[in-house]
Amino acid sequence: MDSKVVWITGASTGIGKELAMEFSKAGCIVVVSARRKSRLVRVVSEIKFAEREASAFVCNVLSERSIQITAKRIREKYGNIDLLINNAGVTAFKSFMETKTFDYDLIMNTNLRGAFLCIKNVLPQMIRKKKGHIINVLSVAANTALENSSVYAASKAGLLAMSNCLREEVRRYNIKISNLLPGAVETPMWDSRSRQRYKNRMMNPEDIAKIAVQIFQQPKKVLIEDIVIKPSKGNI
Ligand SMILES: NC(=O)c1ccc[n+]([C@@H]2O[C@H](COP(=O)([O-])OP(=O)(O)OC[C@H]3O[C@@H](n4cnc5c(N)ncnc54)[C@H](OP(=O)(O)O)[C@@H]3O)[C@@H](O)[C@H]2O)c1
Repeated sequence: MDSKVVWITGASTGIGKELAMEFSKAGCIVVVSARRKSRLVRVVSEIKFAEREASAFVCNVLSERSIQITAKRIREKYGNIDLLINNAGVTAFKSFMETKTFDYDLIMNTNLRGAFLCIKNVLPQMIRKKKGHIINVLSVAANTALENSSVYAASKAGLLAMSNCLREEVRRYNIKISNLLPGAVETPMWDSRSRQRYKNRMMNPEDIAKIAVQIFQQPKKVLIEDIVIKPSKGNI
């Protein structure tokens, strides 16, 4: 995997940060993006301390312009994007009745539209080169009915459906699309009470990151399409 360029969105904390660490350990050049620059700088410093290559770009996936600029800068710096990981995501943990239009727009625009735009900005180059890989960090919510997650579930199910269709369109260019559906992972997405309460049941972000590396390391002829990863004691 030496010198493969991996762009990870939402890599300032949680699963995204651990994806950066694990892909770096696996020998990849890691590009991290998110809105909080100071956190990104910390991630890159940690990687560079281990004498590996990494870069940070502030990128808000709610903004098409921000995504376009980021994709362009990565290509200018490294020439290629071998793997895009659509990881940036938000949720609200509210019942349907409590969910406001603002929540709907934020969740759908971050999780679904944001991923759509990132894919749009890497795909032309992947098609030209006839290679590339896109991994979407979805959730078990994409295919499981959970309370207080209706719009989040819709955003993840939407991206699952979109990716499944896209996969059929890009197989002919040797482009792989993989969907990762994790159950509960202990990250800042959960409030501190839930993290404390379920700490022993939740998976660690490194667990998910290590599996993502394995997905990317498969032989050219092998594609892990969808993978569900749950806490061994089940959903929370
Ligand atoms: N934790 C779980 O139990 C769990 C389970 C299944 C799936 N997931 C999925 O895993 C992914 C990562 O979540 P996490 O659990 O690691 O939570 P997290 O620590 O809150 O990470 C979310 C990341 O998304 C970024 N982000 C949010 N809005 C953004 C925007 N508009 N533009 C760019 N980046 C944005 C955040 O960075 P900034 O705030 O710095 O922008 C942060 O780096 C999400 O897609 C989530 O749905 C999580």
